[in-house]
Amino acid sequence: ADHPLATTDPARSTAGSPLVTAFRGGTPSRTPVWFMRQAGRSLPEYREVRQGIGMLESCLKPELASEITLQPVRRHDVDAAIFFSDIVVPLRLAGVDVDIVPGTGPVLGQAVRTAADVAALPELTDESLEPIREAVRLTVAELGSTPLIGFAGAPFTVAAYMVEGGPSRDHLGPRTMMHADPETWNALATWAANTAGAFLRAQIEAGASAGQLFDSWAGSLSLADYEQYVQPHSAHAFSHVRDLVDGSGQPVPLVHFGTGTSEILPAMRDAGASVMGVDYRLPLGEAHRRLGATPGPDGRGTVPLQGNIDPALLSAPWEVLEAHVREVVEAGRVAPGHVVNLGHGVPPTTDPTVLTRIVDLIHSIQP
Ligand code: CP3
Repeated sequence: ADHPLATTDPARSTAGSPLVTAFRGGTPSRTPVWFMRQAGRSLPEYREVRQGIGMLESCLKPELASEITLQPVRRHDVDAAIFFSDIVVPLRLAGVDVDIVPGTGPVLGQAVRTAADVAALPELTDESLEPIREAVRLTVAELGSTPLIGFAGAPFTVAAYMVEGGPSRDHLGPRTMMHADPETWNALATWAANTAGAFLRAQIEAGASAGQLFDSWAGSLSLADYEQYVQPHSAHAFSHVRDLVDGSGQPVPLVHFGTGTSEILPAMRDAGASVMGVDYRLPLGEAHRRLGATPGPDGRGTVPLQGNIDPALLSAPWEVLEAHVREVVEAGRVAPGHVVNLGHGVPPTTDPTVLTRIVDLIHSIQP
């Protein structure tokens, strides 16, 4: 409580921004767009400032993390910044032995597989989140009326790295654990939900205008497994930030995104998202139809959508890409709100001038 809500600062109102307006189902002044992984290796200015500094180390230097967060906003004129960090940063802050290996991804010193492993996990303290809050404060001070999106990794995706000890293709370890030893699975996912919730809350309290939970690998789960072993934990992560409101008194928009999630979209909404991220596999019209056809326990059906330009088309000839982008914008009109994004992250090989050109194109289309 000694960290006042920066979002209540009247000088920083992002409530009327195109992003937040669309996230709340209103009509924005222009069609909003940002890109997952917009800060990163596609930018020469990113590669420049990252020289000689490890990925996680750069996330924990507030000035550097803030500078990297701002780079794509300056370059592309996107409608939001996404906080430069990683889903395993709160693990490192808690004291878990984890690193990000270039070209591989998150790797743990020791996999977490038994009840004793889970019981031995360190707790994330509030003080350890100070570099995160500091980076967010520095960033929103520069952003003016452009919103910052905070994020965290969802319990399943983070636990998948922890159980495997690193990246895996089919996530067999965590998927076996939920059935073979549900008690240990639930204890691990509870730890991951509390860690993600505290990480996301710190960002929103320090000034982020929205939050996104990344469950990138949730598409490897059956609907039944998702509902039984994952959704309650993702709902628990969201519950850490559900009470937060912005300067206009409205709840902070919460986005839920994963890949390969066509069959579990309504269940992901029911974890407590107010906006659904859609990957490139499912047309937005079909995502909208599925959400509307499957209202949740609270009667909620369709929600605003975010997505879903196919990252593969970023390297296609401009006419092909342009037609695809226009199709995505048109498809999004069926939803109560639409924020344009990619259907997954920017590939590191992307020509950044193509991203700027897409932003200009999208902004030229009437909302
Ligand atoms: O613009 C942004 O989106 C910035 C912030 C961001 C990063 N990681 C920075 C990053 C976000 C939101 C993430 C989330 C993240 N991290 C996810 C969920 C989103 C997704 O892509 O599905 C996942 C699964 C991770 C785990 C992770 N971290 C992977 C798989 C990798 C790639 C490893 C590699 O080198 O190929 C990382 C590293 C990482 N996180 C980089 C960046 C910019 C690349 C590190 C570098 O520049 O060397």
